[in-house]
Amino acid sequence: MTEPTDRFINRAEQPEDQEDRSLRPSFLGEMIGQEQVKENLQILIEAAKMRSEALDHVLFYGPPGLGKTTLAHILANEMDVAIKVTSGPAIERAGDLAAILTNLHAGDILFIDEIHRLGRAVEEVLYPAMEDFSLDIVIGKGPAARSIRLKLPHFTVVGATTRLALVTAPLRARFGAVYRLDFYDQSSLIEIVQRGAGLLNVAYDQQGLVEIASRSRGTPRVALRMLRRVRDFAQVRADGQINGEVAQAALDLLNIDDQGLDDLDRRVLLCVIEKYDGGPVGLNTIAASVSEEPDTIMDVVEPYLMQLGFLERTSQGRMATRIAYDHLGLEFRNGNSQQKLF
Ligand SMILES: Nc1ncnc2c1ncn2[C@@H]1O[C@H](COP(=O)(O)OP(=O)(O)OP(=O)(O)O)[C@@H](O)[C@H]1O
Ligand SMILES: [Mg+2]
Repeated sequence: MTEPTDRFINRAEQPEDQEDRSLRPSFLGEMIGQEQVKENLQILIEAAKMRSEALDHVLFYGPPGLGKTTLAHILANEMDVAIKVTSGPAIERAGDLAAILTNLHAGDILFIDEIHRLGRAVEEVLYPAMEDFSLDIVIGKGPAARSIRLKLPHFTVVGATTRLALVTAPLRARFGAVYRLDFYDQSSLIEIVQRGAGLLNVAYDQQGLVEIASRSRGTPRVALRMLRRVRDFAQVRADGQINGEVAQAALDLLNIDDQGLDDLDRRVLLCVIEKYDGGPVGLNTIAASVSEEPDTIMDVVEPYLMQLGFLERTSQGRMATRIAYDHLGLEFRNGNSQQKLF
């Protein structure tokens, strides 16, 4: 039942990710939007530089595709230090982490993506490493085993997660700075698409940029992927220029509607509305009926539907709102939740 997932916000590495990287801003000054986060980071960076210290540990959280990985690389560039990239699920054993840590130099950044997926044993090695820059290693086994404490250089952990709630409290407490990335506003997205079109050498007009930006669900990654698809369409079906009409036709063909919803978003809403009478219905039930992973629904689909006000999370489950019915052209019915009150 699942369609081939050429979704715009897939986390999995795709061939275009390489091109993605070339579109990635390298310094704070090139990054568009997220003004408050940028300002805070600017202060963090300047202060660390003035004191000739390593940056404090930084945690970024928020929905996929908003720039967490990009910011980690920007921090390394701004501080002019090396960055070592890993992820929670990639560090399987405490020994793997110890090997990574002992290879770091002073000031280096260790970027841990999906940090909420670190194993418990690994986390326990990370605590003293982040706090005291020390590493406890057990040598030998049985009664002869002894523990030695290694000093580590002052390094910086930059963590990223789409699920702040799953980051354990002791780990969270070890980050000196925690920033939330939010969906981008329309004018930032227009600028991001414009910058991308410039870097990709595509001709465009303002209406073309607006059309792509307004359907990109507040997400730079989505905006840039759409830009590429629209560029293809413009080359094959038009004269190569991205204008409003071309962008609209290309995105219509991809089944992206005027609010940026794609097939999966609509399937989720329709499931809640048609199968469960508007809700409340649990996440796992929705995931099973649309044949998707609950994680995908929670990380990718729900944040944007909630941002639009189409979906609500209640203690009993997810509920579709009146404006979701309106958007889908359906007649609003009182969900069974209301009736249960009587
Ligand atoms: N502010 C921005 N300006 C321009 N491009 C941006 C901006 N933020 C992100 N991008 C682009 O969007 C793409 C996705 O960003 P990034 O990989 O940093 O997201 P992420 O938050 O790490 O996502 P995930 O949670 O899936 O790992 C990048 O390739 C980058 O080119
Ligand atoms: Mg990332």
